[in-house]
This record gives sequence, C-alpha cells and structure tokens, in this order.
Amino acid sequence: MGYYSLWSVCCVILAWFVSVGICSTPRRPMAVPFGRNYVPTWAYDHIKYLNSGYDAQLLLDKYTGTGFQSKGSYLFGHFSMDIKMVAGDSAGTVTAFYLSSLGTEHDEIDFEFLGNRTGQPYILQTNVFTGGKGDREQRIYLWFDPTKEYHRYSVLWNLYQIVFFVDNIPIRVFKNNKRMGVKFPFNQPMKIYNSLWNADDWATRGGLEKTDWSKAPFIASYKGFHIDGCETSVEAKFCSTQGKRWWDQQEFRDLDSYQWRRLRWVRRRFTIYNYCSDRTRYPQMPPECRTNGDY
Ligand SMILES: *[C@@H]1O[C@H](CO)[C@@H](O)[C@H](O)[C@H]1NC(C)=O
Repeated sequence: MGYYSLWSVCCVILAWFVSVGICSTPRRPMAVPFGRNYVPTWAYDHIKYLNSGYDAQLLLDKYTGTGFQSKGSYLFGHFSMDIKMVAGDSAGTVTAFYLSSLGTEHDEIDFEFLGNRTGQPYILQTNVFTGGKGDREQRIYLWFDPTKEYHRYSVLWNLYQIVFFVDNIPIRVFKNNKRMGVKFPFNQPMKIYNSLWNADDWATRGGLEKTDWSKAPFIASYKGFHIDGCETSVEAKFCSTQGKRWWDQQEFRDLDSYQWRRLRWVRRRFTIYNYCSDRTRYPQMPPECRTNGDY
C-alpha cells in the first residue's frame, strides 16, 4: 500500500470518529432484562415476563391494574422505554411512563397514553411538574398506530433542558428557565415508573367512553430496560459525575436545527391541546412557553 492510500484510509477512519462524536441523537440503549433495573410496584401477579425477562407485559382487568419502577434513583440522564400500547378496544385505559421524585414539592416528567375505541386514535398527554406544581399539559395525536409495534418513548434530562422524544423525534422541550423564575428539576433524584390502569372517569373523550370489561385483560408490552442516568441515593442533592456524562455534553444542551424543525412539525400537525395557548386558564402566557417553541 502506498503512502497516499494509507493516508486516505486514516482520513476515512478519522472522519468516522468525528461524525460519531458530534452526532446528537441519544445513544442506543443496550438490551437488559427487566430485573436488572426494575421491580414491580404493585399487583405483582399482573406482570408477565417473556423472552427470559427481556420483555414484560402489564395486565389490567376489573380487579386491578399494575406497574413497575426503577430500583435506582437518578439525577439527570436519558431514560427510555419501548412500549406497545393496548391493542383493540383500549377506551378508558391509561398507560403511563414517567419520572418522579418524592415529597410534597416533587418534580415529575410525564408521558400518559390515553386509550380509545378500536380504530380511534390514542392521545399522548405530557406534563412537567417542578417544585410540586404541574398544570402544564400538552396533548398530541401520534403519527402512527402505537398498538401495532413497539415505539421508543424517551426523556433527556440535563441541567439545560428536558426533552420528550417519540422514536427520537422531539415532541416537547422544557428549557431551564431559572433566570425567568421558573423552577427546573435539578436537585431531587427521580425514579422511573410505568403503569397501566383504569381512568375511565376522564381518559377517553373526557370520560364519556367507559372501559368495556368484557374485553379484559388489557395488555401493554414493554422492553428496553436499560437506564442511562447518574444513579444516586434518594436524598442526594447532586450527581457525583455532574457534567461529565454523554447527556451533559454540548450537543445535548439544545435541539439542533433539524430537531427544532421536527418539533415544529409535531406542533403544527398533531397538537390537540397546549396549556401555552389556553387563555382561559392562563390569561397571560406562562413565561417558559416562548423559549420552548410553544407560542
Ligand atoms: C378517541 O376518538 C375520538 C373520536 O375520533 C377523538 O375525538 C378522541 O380525541 C380520541 N382519543 C381520546 C383519548 O379520547
């Protein structure tokens, strides 16, 4: 091999390393079994483990729903779950994936999937609680049927922003607006929770559609139990590796222009409700809305 061809091979390898380094999509999670990171929260007998524990199912019947939570508590990271929602008639059911801290002034980051009659669209509701205060609901339709395949729902949380993703497409941003007096979760470790329960008093068409128990058990499927976060004790006030992990790095501190475009596409095409434009509830737009691309 001549000097020049060797040099060009090096260039290609170098270019590959650089492009991987600057790529701002979250790292692909490794497959790990349920028991590595999670434990059931309640109704243990309504959780089924498949594929040696790499897949799990939650069952809801007229007696109870069920749920599971992370063993660890985390301050910042990237948290994802692959979920296949309840198929067929899921009206009245809610499937939730959320992060929450403990205590009265808790922080919380929520995905809630509201079921529907067969063939009618699910709604994805998101919310952010900081210092015990929520009331920041947004609702969208999805651009696919979430009952047909697994899709990845994830949250990026660092000191700069919280981003909700659906299959790596940002559907919501909550920037750190501390300088505007808006609280931002930074010192209360959170656990990750998943659950399936009956909410037919409000979930589907505002509670008009009731759960049809003749269709029970309702089943939601889960995989992807890997967790990328700074694990701490429940009482910790900071993360020991703060600023050093991949989700802390420059490229994850803001969306890039492509991601802002995707977010605007979601806003324009799929929004049902956004607290930022609800002038009955908020005669003045909440201050964080402008920096989150919500106006
Ligand atoms: C259920 O379907 C109806 C009719 O298409 C729709 O108005 C509603 O937004 C859908 N989703 C929920 C959760 O109610």
